[in-house]
Amino acid sequence: MNDLTFILLGATGDLSRRKLLPSLYRLIAQKKLNNFIIVGAALDETDARTILSDARSFMGKIDESVWQLFEQRFFYEPVDFTREADFKRLADRVQELEKKYALAGNRMVYLAVAAKFFCSITQHLADTQLVMRQKVGQTPWQRIVYEKPFGHNLESAHEINECIGRLFEEHQIYRIDHFLSKELVSNIALVRFTNCVFEPLWNNRYIDQVQIVINEAIALEGRGAYYDHYGALSDVMQNHMLELLALIGMESPEKLFGDYVRDRRVQVLKKVQVIDGFLGQYKGYKKEPAVKKDSETETFAVLLLRIDNPRWAGVPFYLKTGKCLAKKETVIYIKFKSVDCLLTHSCPVPSNWLTIEVSPEATFSLSLNAKKPGRSDEVIPVSMEFCHSCLFGAVTPQSYEVVIEEVMRGEQSISVRFDEIEQCWRIIDTVKEKSFDLSEYECGSQGPEELKQFEQKHGMRWRS
Ligand code: BG6
Repeated sequence: MNDLTFILLGATGDLSRRKLLPSLYRLIAQKKLNNFIIVGAALDETDARTILSDARSFMGKIDESVWQLFEQRFFYEPVDFTREADFKRLADRVQELEKKYALAGNRMVYLAVAAKFFCSITQHLADTQLVMRQKVGQTPWQRIVYEKPFGHNLESAHEINECIGRLFEEHQIYRIDHFLSKELVSNIALVRFTNCVFEPLWNNRYIDQVQIVINEAIALEGRGAYYDHYGALSDVMQNHMLELLALIGMESPEKLFGDYVRDRRVQVLKKVQVIDGFLGQYKGYKKEPAVKKDSETETFAVLLLRIDNPRWAGVPFYLKTGKCLAKKETVIYIKFKSVDCLLTHSCPVPSNWLTIEVSPEATFSLSLNAKKPGRSDEVIPVSMEFCHSCLFGAVTPQSYEVVIEEVMRGEQSISVRFDEIEQCWRIIDTVKEKSFDLSEYECGSQGPEELKQFEQKHGMRWRS
């Protein structure tokens, strides 16, 4: 497991600098990578040293001996992703380095590049034999990782799936959604299915509604050109939020890994219907660098979805996400139905809420009703909490470390299968066809004023 050839396409990009290279550094520091080489490639005429020093500030405290090893084993090749000759040169270099460092040839090729290159790059990987088509369990293993967004609609995602599926087996293909590797997200299914107190209640008899919220305080952080092309619906809703919905909504899998979980997630996604929604754009967005002056791209989105199956019939799933909001908050709120009133002083009785906070804190908490202290028959909500950091310390490792580790292990539940990704795009295409209204909101606020009208229209209240 420790022997790895990591080929990073898009090595000079934002994701590599902020997430992938720092994650590789940490894996080396923890000795989870022992014998390895990392070969970066991109269009730029630069060198390995410059790329690493650009990423250094995202790595936290540096241990100089680890850094030295990282520098010794990190290489760079300028590659034009459209030219086969460049891939041949890359393949020769990789082979030569594998020989020099006595590596077995376990290859992970990470495509941290735009989806328009996915098909042609995959073709070059096959043609130059940088990656070989393999049977399940074959060693040394060779796997390809595709960073999100995977296409820009159902049609484009389907085309990429067809193209890469002709060249490689699904067990070699990893479509990444880093949310699936977050500690609390990977905990959702486990908590649901290993605690008898939850699963029997996990249906429309007892659950009133689900709210999934990804609020971000940050704006574009230099990603204007990318973001203006995608917007909140494709950047966050299509992947992270729908995957959270699938994990909350899925039926019990036989096992908690691989296709057992992916089968269950896709089953739910197939049944998702779009009921209502609205969009927003923060004031000043059009003045951001690389954003079109007349852009109508949404930086905020609210959706009301339903899952058309016996377990969830009638239960609204409210999804809300946005950039440039008051604070960062990634939380799932599950509201249980309230019980009949027994006490005249506390009617209606507050509902129980299960709150799964993914970030900034990592916690599960359940609000329960208790008696107000003293001679009283009043009810007060109290909270039972599992605080991850209180018990185990801050959440480490980071999600991209987990991504790399799981790909090395060959664990595919952290990646999105071809049919799952197409279902997610089907939902987003349906949302786009509905052309929901777009309104402005102040940066640093909770979002557009329409949030209140939406509450009134649907008889709900945002928990956040
Ligand atoms: C990324 C989006 O996938 O997820 C970003 O492209 C977003 O726009 C980010 O900021 C949020 O992820 P995290 O892990 O920082 O909560």
